[in-house]
Amino acid sequence: MRIIVSEGPVELADRAASHIAELISTYEGRRVSLGLAGGSTPRATYEQLRNTEVDWTAVDCWLSDERWVPRDDPDSNSRMARLALLDHVPAVFHDIGWRKKRLPQAAAQEYSAKLETIFDEAPDIVLLGMGEDGHTASLFPGTDALEDTSSGYIANFVPGKGWRLTATLGLLNRARHLVFLVAGTGKAGVLSRVLNGEPFPSTLVGRGHSDVTWLVDEAAAAELDPS
Ligand code: 6PG
Repeated sequence: MRIIVSEGPVELADRAASHIAELISTYEGRRVSLGLAGGSTPRATYEQLRNTEVDWTAVDCWLSDERWVPRDDPDSNSRMARLALLDHVPAVFHDIGWRKKRLPQAAAQEYSAKLETIFDEAPDIVLLGMGEDGHTASLFPGTDALEDTSSGYIANFVPGKGWRLTATLGLLNRARHLVFLVAGTGKAGVLSRVLNGEPFPSTLVGRGHSDVTWLVDEAAAAELDPS
């Protein structure tokens, strides 16, 4: 596990874009799967990433989680990722596919099966964020999805936020590379507690064989033990 601290959000986006492009290039000669994080922090990284030297025709992009809303809803992670990156590069995007009257559980099951067709035994690179409550993807503290040990992708009801679809701990911990993007003072407290091993969903990700990198800015790193 490594922690790389950048000055501010702009430097973080630059650093993250080159880090991700470098990881993608290590899989030259075969298709690469790239799980995209949602929320607001990754947007600047995606905007930088579209200007990097990457053979996007060999990249399969998917969502590490999504809000159960129409794909053009302002809250949709799919929309954010398309506007910031996917509409600008020739990658294949495996979207979740919200439809009226469709059950989130059915969509999650179908997406889980679809993902296994793009993985070469395991996800290659998965980008993740972290909330101030220590959640990652849509694995929120105290929610059912944290108990799931068999599915790859699951629908998770989050009180106050509604239905979410999310990669499970099982799927995330199969990833070859996990890259967390975390910025801002609001995350400083929980980041130091997660890195100290306190019980948060983000602490449970990266406990397997994955290569784990935390890309953070100075504000988020403010409470980390310098040593
Ligand atoms: C989501 C995310 C979620 C996000 C964190 C951090 O759909 O909301 O995938 O896990 O990464 O909530 O969000 P911010 O980057 O907006 O702080």
